[in-house]
Amino acid sequence: MSVFPFAQPPTVSFYLIVYVLTLVLHAIFMTYVLAGSLYLAWAAVFRGSEETPRARSAVAKILREWMPFALSAAITAGVAPLLFVQIIYRQEFYTSNLLLGWRWLMVVPVLVVGFYLLYVVKSRLISNWPLPVRIALVTVISACFLFVAFCWTTNHLLGIQSARWPQVYESGQVVASLGALTIRLAMWVAGAFPCMSIFVAWQLRYYSDRDGRPASQVGGLRALSMVASVGILLTLACAGGYLATLTADTRSALLGSQGGPWMMAVALGSVVQLNGWWLMRKNGQLSTSSLSLVTGGCLLMLTGAGFLRELLRFVQVDASGVARNAKSAASVGGFWLFVLFTVVNVGLMAICVRLVRPALRTDAETSDQQTESPTV
Ligand code: HEM
Repeated sequence: MSVFPFAQPPTVSFYLIVYVLTLVLHAIFMTYVLAGSLYLAWAAVFRGSEETPRARSAVAKILREWMPFALSAAITAGVAPLLFVQIIYRQEFYTSNLLLGWRWLMVVPVLVVGFYLLYVVKSRLISNWPLPVRIALVTVISACFLFVAFCWTTNHLLGIQSARWPQVYESGQVVASLGALTIRLAMWVAGAFPCMSIFVAWQLRYYSDRDGRPASQVGGLRALSMVASVGILLTLACAGGYLATLTADTRSALLGSQGGPWMMAVALGSVVQLNGWWLMRKNGQLSTSSLSLVTGGCLLMLTGAGFLRELLRFVQVDASGVARNAKSAASVGGFWLFVLFTVVNVGLMAICVRLVRPALRTDAETSDQQTESPTV
């Protein structure tokens, strides 16, 4: 079977598959934080009507309440792909880190600042702060996470441009094409909104059911279905634009027998999601069947995009080097230990969610008009 990565040596296929699946898990939580912070910044600047300010919407409150948890989950879920990328693309990953130097190291302090500010934005304290200060706060938070996304994209692109490394070392000019980097980053940012919308839709559904107020879903549903649908169309447009920046050889690998099925997975996942959101908007409720439909569509789109992203890198790096790395890694034991700790960690995370859920302040799920809660 020539579909990527199944035609590769077994050790290479194994590491590439677990890498992409763990990266999809990272993306599920990372998109909540990236799109969530941008949504809060937008809701703070474009406030909507005085009666129902966007920053008091159920969507905004759920985001403020859960983003610190989502960031912890994004960091935790980022560790596994971080380990696998070093196993598979040892030289490429380390070289791009070194060439980026201090710019790469900045990811940690910026992430820490963003993390702490998420707790500030969640606190009641800030409701007394002047509006411009509150707007500045959410803008700084979204800028932190955009910067982190920018660093991951720059690092990735530098890793697959080995021919440029000596010149980058001399000039310090790490970005080859600002156009390609911008459209790739825009693709990730646009793609973050459909994923975040599904997550928040399930949360909105949970709280409105728990409090027996299905009506409170309506406002959030309208906003989320719009954000998700526009996000999907923008992601596909950016993906098309990014495809145009690639060489003919790379494009043919993506569109050929290796990548074609994953392209179809992305297209099918997008259509299923657009259809699911249209159904929910038409019926005016977050039904379990439609929510499951958009969730399945989103996972299909993320997985397809994950394998296409990897195929795009694989055809541009030294495949024999990857095979050597995978073979030597596979000769080192510890697989079942990895499985054991994966199970333990997932169990611990489930307990954490269970523990914090009831404590969630009632105001987070109150409808637009009623809340006394802190607003931005
Ligand atoms: C809110 C914080 C974060 C954001 C917004 C973010 C965003 C992203 C984005 C957009 C990419 C894809 C880059 C590309 O393909 O162009 C990415 C890849 C990745 N991220 Fe995250 N990330 C975050 C935090 C983290 C953390 C804390 C870790 C590790 C603990 C991590 C691990 C990874 C790994 C391993 C990759 C794949 C790198 C590669 O394949 O070259 N991320 N991230």
